Amino acid sequence: MTAPVQTDDVVIARAPAKINLHLGVGPVRADGYHELATVFCALSLTDELVAAEGSGVSIVTAGEGADAVPADASNLACRAALRLAEHAGIDADVEMSVRKQIPVAAGLAGGSAGAAAAPGACDALWGTGASRGDLLQIAAELGSDVAFSLTGGLALGTGRGEMLSPVLAAGRWHWVLAVAEGGLSTGDVYRELDRIREGTERGATLELPDALMNALRSRDTDALGAALHNDMEPAAFGLMPTLRRTKAAGVEEGAAGALLCGSGPTMAFLARDEQHAVDLAARVSGLGVCRTVRTAYGPVPGARITG
Ligand code: C5P
Repeated sequence: MTAPVQTDDVVIARAPAKINLHLGVGPVRADGYHELATVFCALSLTDELVAAEGSGVSIVTAGEGADAVPADASNLACRAALRLAEHAGIDADVEMSVRKQIPVAAGLAGGSAGAAAAPGACDALWGTGASRGDLLQIAAELGSDVAFSLTGGLALGTGRGEMLSPVLAAGRWHWVLAVAEGGLSTGDVYRELDRIREGTERGATLELPDALMNALRSRDTDALGAALHNDMEPAAFGLMPTLRRTKAAGVEEGAAGALLCGSGPTMAFLARDEQHAVDLAARVSGLGVCRTVRTAYGPVPGARITG
């Protein structure tokens, strides 16, 4: 290994949260992951990563749920930096700090956004000249949601969620996110889903519904609200029964649609426009059915260098 060629002293990158407008979960594969057919939408809630010259790889995290984020080499952003250095054949010397807006263990890719921001930030810091393809490959290796947080926008995800193709649709949608007290482990929710499905014919809904694609293209809020679907809901509701009430409450308060975010436990409510999202957020917040409420819009671009 050789010492990296330092280009900038400090690089700042941002990466977005995501929701899945459709999450179809197929059978478990030989590698332990489940086959997915999903439609990702990147949200305006972002994590910011600052990469600066350092000795070895280190990371500190501040903000939303920072206590739950590991500060050692198991941190996905550290692993991303190490992978890039290995790929480039240089020493991994970087001091990273992450300011989180995205709740962790909430189903919003809060654990993945830092990892999506890190390879691009380190590439700029080290002057490694990695291609977009290299960055995507590193992201895809690190986790099912990391690749999408890098590409952003609106995308169809297959494989274990890391194989992406863009979905073309105009405009943006406004959301209210009801973040539950406590987190759910993604692995636990998949295992609970397998348990529920055991011995039944249910599951493997790997076809994407035309209704969702049509609603996205035609910008029809009611049609989109009706087409939102997440196969993980029965499993997450089983592990955290209050979520069922949260979902019903948001719909009663006027959401055009509602669904669990990823493996949960955040619930996303579709609003009609920005003002409706603000009003709906205030009403949902007043019900006391969740820890905190956020508004966000999407789709937005993926991880990018901002400074
Ligand atoms: O990809 P990620 O590391 O976020 O996944 C966490 C866990 O969720 C995996 O270890 C696996 O148990 C489960 N998972 C799965 N199928 C997927 C994605 C995740 O079973 N497509």
